[in-house]
Amino acid sequence: MAQKMTAPAVRARKGTDPLVMVTAYDAPGARMADEAGVDLILVGDSLAMVVLGYEDTLQVTTEDMAHHIAAVARAKPRCMVVGDLPWMSYHVSVEDTVRNAAALVRAGAQAVKLEGGAKRVPMVSAIVDAEIPVMGHIGLTPQSVHAMGGFKVQGKSVDAAALLVEDALALEAAGVFSLVLEGVPDEVARMVTAAVSVPTIGIGAGPWCDGQVLVFHDVLGIEDRIVPKFVRRYASLRADGVAALAAFADDVRARRFPSDAESYHLSEDVSRAMGLYGSVSA
Ligand code: KIV
Repeated sequence: MAQKMTAPAVRARKGTDPLVMVTAYDAPGARMADEAGVDLILVGDSLAMVVLGYEDTLQVTTEDMAHHIAAVARAKPRCMVVGDLPWMSYHVSVEDTVRNAAALVRAGAQAVKLEGGAKRVPMVSAIVDAEIPVMGHIGLTPQSVHAMGGFKVQGKSVDAAALLVEDALALEAAGVFSLVLEGVPDEVARMVTAAVSVPTIGIGAGPWCDGQVLVFHDVLGIEDRIVPKFVRRYASLRADGVAALAAFADDVRARRFPSDAESYHLSEDVSRAMGLYGSVSA
């Protein structure tokens, strides 16, 4: 049986085989990702938008995240399970941050992810000191949607690119085992990837990262209202699902479902005792 993926194993993949990460939010999704052979499952706070129907990621709580992390962990995937710390779970105090990170680990995460650069160093150090591996996340950080003025590509000027490299180096020094780069020009992702000794995992960050991550519902075409430029669809499960549900509805309305083979039957004896034998077709 394949070995369980761990933070040191992820860290050791720097500059070797590209890392593959997808989000998942429940046990069936985790089983699919695991069978597909991905390296990491991120129980992302994209849960808010992708599954719970919110407009942004700011609405989910540590309890919401723990609930979905536990569902993923129950699938016992071989992949490493990373839990996203939601907005306000690591912004108030270091103590609060460590307690919230521990809640996600107790739910089943092997590591936590948080957004932001150098200003998050005290939080990252404290979580790492509590023996919990931390994945960083810089660039387009969706929890900063209001501060950024929307979901906008980051690091587009010389100064902004240099700041991203500084942020990455600060997070590396604080002990992150890997780093998500989201929504940055590919040249900037390449600079950051070259600057740090931990693997970078890109989303909308071009091909030069040490790995790539996409959202489960985007890869499978379950979500098709918005198609960001960086998404590649590998299936059309939403369209297939709508067609399947419509076929079910048609069959029910036409009394084609359920068939005899899809129904349970009384034994002949019981049926006879009830005076039903022969009165309905067997
Ligand atoms: O929550 C999420 O899905 C993420 C990925 C986009 C990296 O943070």
